[in-house]
Amino acid sequence: MELEEILLERSTLKRKRVIANELDNDFTNTPERLAELYGQYAKLRAELLEQQRQLSGLEITKWHETTTQLHPASEVLKDLREDKTIKAPLLTQAWLKFYEILWNVPELIADSPNVGKGGFNSLHLCEAPGAFISALLQYWASEYRRYNYFPDWRAATLNPHHEESDPGAVIRVDTLILEFPHRWVFGTDNTGNIFNFGSLANLKGKQFSLVTGDGGVDCSADPEFQEENSAELKTSEYKAICYKLKNKGNAVLKLFCCCHESSLKILESAASSFQIVELVKPASSKAGNSELYLIMRGYFGRMAPLENSAGFLEANLDVIRFFINRQRKAIADNLEFEKCNKDWNIDMSQFVLSNKQILSNKMNLANLKGTSANSGLTLRVAVGYTTHAGIRKNADILSDFFPFHQRNNTPTFEKKN
Ligand SMILES: C[S@@+](CC[C@H](N)C(=O)[O-])C[C@H]1O[C@@H](n2cnc3c(N)ncnc32)[C@H](O)[C@@H]1O
Repeated sequence: MELEEILLERSTLKRKRVIANELDNDFTNTPERLAELYGQYAKLRAELLEQQRQLSGLEITKWHETTTQLHPASEVLKDLREDKTIKAPLLTQAWLKFYEILWNVPELIADSPNVGKGGFNSLHLCEAPGAFISALLQYWASEYRRYNYFPDWRAATLNPHHEESDPGAVIRVDTLILEFPHRWVFGTDNTGNIFNFGSLANLKGKQFSLVTGDGGVDCSADPEFQEENSAELKTSEYKAICYKLKNKGNAVLKLFCCCHESSLKILESAASSFQIVELVKPASSKAGNSELYLIMRGYFGRMAPLENSAGFLEANLDVIRFFINRQRKAIADNLEFEKCNKDWNIDMSQFVLSNKQILSNKMNLANLKGTSANSGLTLRVAVGYTTHAGIRKNADILSDFFPFHQRNNTPTFEKKN
């Protein structure tokens, strides 16, 4: 892998207005043409699946070790955690990803209306345990020290303390929820489920400068259908983003793969509802997984319909192909490494170290030292979770945080009998 390839990849989506006028649309938007184009996206997905199937037969723990070993963010994270001068809570992969996004797309904050006048606030959907919040406040402490305030943040997520919460879906780590209960909303039924009517009712009348949606569902049993199985969640998050965003506000939404109709409709609606829309793959997100972040800037104040036109699908096929090919190459590289590693003792330390350095520099992580005391997120208790019996336990940062999310980070596959 070339060094430049580990840096965040950005691709701007073409807007409907730019790619086709209404007259063209009338002629090309036939159901047959749309079906044909959806077929082309499905073909990209099938090619990716073919590559992923080559992983079947590998031992999953070993594969996880290999991909982690080659992933520059693992080393960066290790350094950050060992550095005791950095006190940001929840230093997880999610923290790093969002910090990287903020660092690479500074307009997400800088272009917000009234940011210098105390007017910046944020809402984080599907957010437990809250690493995006920690990353945002840390970034703010580092870049916006000159302003005399911190973002007024709110968050929504599945309620880990609700008796009906599904242990497989909910993130148990609740420190940020316990420390800042007035900042979390769980809706009228107290479940926090974004599918339920009234899930954001407590925020009535409040609009936000920045809204994020990082939802994920456990797809480990059905990894091939991660995108389809997340479709309802992603659509709900996208609608909630549009519902709660200020005019001219900015947003970030995690998506998977972007070959399925449900994602393509979100992409096209976003391209018509925002001034600038980009898909990005942070370098700190493992190159072999399907997650992509949709960055939306300059909200027009109304959500365009969730539908596709032939013009949009044609114009953006190459963008999606770029990300799929990149993912396929990452899997192929990892497989090649795994194969060679069986016969040769390969020392990758120099490679990993130089990539780690590039990533750290790119995110200006050295600048973090000493700023964390001002992030406004100093916790009184160790990061942990509450058991059903009401007993408080500390969480092991690596194993307890993302019981299913970490599994999703690596391609999952069947072990050969
Ligand atoms: C990947 S984690 C989010 C990580 C978070 N951004 C962070 O930085 O710590 C995905 C979250 O989505 C939540 N989630 C999944 N389905 C949900 C739903 N239907 N309603 C609300 N939250 C949901 C999960 O409980 C989990 O907290």
